[in-house]
Amino acid sequence: MNGSFFIQQYLDKGFELSDAQSEIDFAIEILFGYSAKDFILGKKLSEKEKNRLQEIIFERLEKKCPIQQLVGNAYFFGRKFYVTKDTLIPRPETEILIVEILKHIKNIDTPKILDIGSGTGCIPITLALENKNLLADSVDISEKAIEVAKKNSNLHKVENRVNFFKSDLFKNVNDSYNLIVSNPPYIPIKDKNTLQTEVKDFDPALALFAYDEQGIEFYERIINSASKYIEKNGFICFEIGINQSTIVTKLLYNNNFKNIEITKDLNNIDRVIIAQKT
Ligand SMILES: C[S@@+](CC[C@H](N)C(=O)[O-])C[C@H]1O[C@@H](n2cnc3c(N)ncnc32)[C@H](O)[C@@H]1O
Repeated sequence: MNGSFFIQQYLDKGFELSDAQSEIDFAIEILFGYSAKDFILGKKLSEKEKNRLQEIIFERLEKKCPIQQLVGNAYFFGRKFYVTKDTLIPRPETEILIVEILKHIKNIDTPKILDIGSGTGCIPITLALENKNLLADSVDISEKAIEVAKKNSNLHKVENRVNFFKSDLFKNVNDSYNLIVSNPPYIPIKDKNTLQTEVKDFDPALALFAYDEQGIEFYERIINSASKYIEKNGFICFEIGINQSTIVTKLLYNNNFKNIEITKDLNNIDRVIIAQKT
C-alpha cells in the first residue's frame, strides 16, 4: 500500500484529486503527527499505520462519515479542535464571524461576550485566543457538546476566561455583555433531504435544523430577548443561511437595533450580520 493506493480509493468514489490529497494529508497529520514535508524528506508509514489509515478511509468512503469525526479533530481559524458526533464540525464560513467580531470589539478594553450554541466552543475560544482581555460565557442545550467545548478550552488554555454552561438560549443567563454572538441551527427542516449525507447523517440534528418554514426561529427568539442582555451600544452578531439576511435584518430593525452590516462569504452569500443596540 502506498500513497497513491489511498488516493485511488477516493478517486474511484468521484472525489477531485486535490480534495483526496488534502483529506489524506489531514488524516495522517492528526492520526500520526506527520506533515506532508515529512514524506518529502522520506518518511514512510509503518504497516500498522497504513492499516489504521485504511480503516478510516473505508469508513469515510463507504459510510460517508466526515473525516473530522473519524479522526476526532477539525481545524478552525488555524487551530485544532476536538469534535465528536455531538458537535457540529466547525465550518470555514464561521471564521467570518470571528473577523467581524474582532473588528467591532477592538476598542473595548475588556470585552465580555455571550455565545449562544457552543458546539465545539470554537467561537468563544478563538475570540479569547485572538483577544487576550476577552471574557466569554457560552451556552448550549446539549450537555455532550458542553463537555467537548470544555475539553477544547483546556486544550487551548482559556478555561479561566471562557465559561461554558447548559442553557436553553437565555434561560440560565443572568449577566449582560458587550456582544452576543450566535451561529444557531438555521437549516429549515424541509431542506433536510437536499443536504449531503456527510451533513445530514453525521452532524447533530440539534445543531442543524430549525423547524419553521424559513429556518429563522432561533434568530427570532434570540433577537426578541437580546436587548436586556446587551450593554448600551453593544453588538449582536449572527451567522445566517441562504436567503435569511432580509428577514433577520427586519427582525433586528423591529427590535431597535441599528448600524446593521452584512458580510458575504466566498460564494457571495450573505453570511454574517452584525448590528448595534440603540
Ligand atoms: C450550528 S451549531 C453551532 C456550533 C458552534 N458555535 C459552531 O459555530 O461551530 C448550533 C449549536 O446550537 C445548539 N443549540 C440548539 N438549540 C439550542 C438552544 N435552544 N439553546 C442553546 N443552544 C442550542 C446546538 O446544540 C449546537 O451546538
